[in-house]
Amino acid sequence: MQEVIIQSKDLCKNYKTGKTNVPVINSINLTLYKGDFTVIMGSSGSGKSTLLYLLSGLETPSSGEIWLEEKPVHSMDEKLMTLLRREYIGFVFQDFNLVPNLTFLENILVPAYLVKNDRKALKAQALELMRKMDILELTDRLPSEVSGGQQQRCSMARAVINNPKVIMADEPTGNLNSSSSEAVLDILTDLNQQGQSIVMVTHEIKSACRANRVIFLKDGQIEDDLRFATDLDFEQKESEMLHWLAGKDW
Ligand SMILES: Nc1ncnc2c1ncn2[C@@H]1O[C@H](COP(=O)(O)OP(=O)(O)OP(=O)(O)O)[C@@H](O)[C@H]1O
Ligand SMILES: [Mg+2]
Repeated sequence: MQEVIIQSKDLCKNYKTGKTNVPVINSINLTLYKGDFTVIMGSSGSGKSTLLYLLSGLETPSSGEIWLEEKPVHSMDEKLMTLLRREYIGFVFQDFNLVPNLTFLENILVPAYLVKNDRKALKAQALELMRKMDILELTDRLPSEVSGGQQQRCSMARAVINNPKVIMADEPTGNLNSSSSEAVLDILTDLNQQGQSIVMVTHEIKSACRANRVIFLKDGQIEDDLRFATDLDFEQKESEMLHWLAGKDW
C-alpha cells in the first residue's frame, strides 16, 4: 500500500465573472501517493493550473476538502497555510518566478532562511544543489543575466531546498527549448528516483512519459486516470499514452 500525501474531497472552485459563477474545478476527489510522479494533462482551460494551485494551498477552494497527510488545509487560516506550504511544498512555475533583484544563490536561500536558522549549513546545501543542477558557476548572476533553462534549474533548487514532501510544477518546460526541457525533466526524474513525490502539469506526451501516473482533466473534472506498469520503457509508455489519449480532447 502506498502512503497518501494529498487527498481532495469534493473539491470545487468557482470564479465569478460578472454575475455568473463559473465552476472551474467541479467536485474533484483525488488521492495522490508518496513517491509517485503524477502528471496532470487536459486541454487549455480544463482547470489544471487551478487544481495544482488548490492542492498546494496557493488558491483557496470554494468548497470541499484538501488534506495534506493528516492536516486539513481547507480549514486553515492564511498564516498557518503559508507556514505549512513552505515546508511541505516546493512550487515550480512556468515563468520561473525568480526575484529579479536577487542573485541566483540568494533566490535559492531566501525560502530556506524562512524555515531554518543555520545559515552556514543552508549556504552549503544551496551550493550543493546548484552543483547538481549544473548552475554552480552562476551563483552571483541575476535572473536577467542567464538563460531560461538556467533560471528554471535555479527555481528547482529553490523548490527542493526545504526538502518538501511534494514538488508541484506547472508546465515547468513550457517556456524552454527542447534541450533545456530535457535537462529540467532529467532533474525531476532523478529527484523522483530518490523518492521525491512530484505533481506536474504538462501538455507534452514526452514529458508526461516521465510520470508513473497520468490524470486527465476535462471541464474541471477527472476524466481518466492512468497508471503505467512499472516495467515499461520510454517507447512503450509513449505508445500507451498515445492510445490512451486517442479520442481525448487535449
Ligand atoms: N482568477 C480567475 N478568475 C476567473 N477565471 C479564472 C481565473 N483563473 C482561472 N480562470 C478560468 O478557469 C479556467 C481554468 O483555468 P486554468 O488556468 O486552471 O486552466 P489550465 O488547464 O491550466 O489551462 P492552460 O493549459 O491554458 O494553462 C479557465 O477557463 C480560466 O479562464
Ligand atoms: Mg495552466
